[in-house]
Amino acid sequence: MLIAPSILNANNLNLKSDIAAAVVAGISRVHIDIMDGHFVPNLSFGPQLVSDFKQAFPDITAEIHLMSDKPDIFVPAFVSAGADLIELHYEAMSAAELDKWLTYLNQHHVKAGLVLSPDTPVTVLPKFAAKLDQVLLMTVYPGFGGQKFIPKMIDKINRAKELLQGKLPIEVDGGIDAETAQIAKSAGASIFVAGSYLFGNGRIAEQIAELTEILR
Ligand code: DX5
Ligand code: ZN
Repeated sequence: MLIAPSILNANNLNLKSDIAAAVVAGISRVHIDIMDGHFVPNLSFGPQLVSDFKQAFPDITAEIHLMSDKPDIFVPAFVSAGADLIELHYEAMSAAELDKWLTYLNQHHVKAGLVLSPDTPVTVLPKFAAKLDQVLLMTVYPGFGGQKFIPKMIDKINRAKELLQGKLPIEVDGGIDAETAQIAKSAGASIFVAGSYLFGNGRIAEQIAELTEILR
């Protein structure tokens, strides 16, 4: 089980110390949400944050959740910035483009993930599985932190697990807290993105310790 803290709703002016606190508490990757104001109605970070992050935390995996329908601009930019893993949305481009960019990531030795928004069926996964290192199932509609976990995504996690026959790790993102992490784990998830649950009350180490204990 892996916890991937999402820094989306962390205080931008405290990012270095907040990430350092999460690292001391035992995390090995950080989930960086990239929102382009077009595929989703919100803006967040750019490539500079990723290169600054890798300079400060070279041993921590930079997981890029790319919420953009402009892969031609952003995939190469985040690869150059030092991303370790880039997760592309199925809904953001054509199947041919998706295949092309997954191949690009494979060739550049950057890990590749495929993200499904809540309404996208898991049946799209097998076609791309050979080029993937993991799958990300959104448990909220992408765009904002602090939303409520959508309960019917549990069934989707179950179906993805069946379909992938344990060959790829399943990550969940959105509304993950002590309770929903446990439920998602039982359904077959093994990587848990958590934003407001970890950064929302100023007690980052305690929140990570609690989630780690629950997922043990
Ligand atoms: C939503 C983002 C999530 C978000 C998670 O579009 O992909 O990563 O930051 O935040 P919480 O854990 O607050 O739902
Ligand atoms: Zn995310």
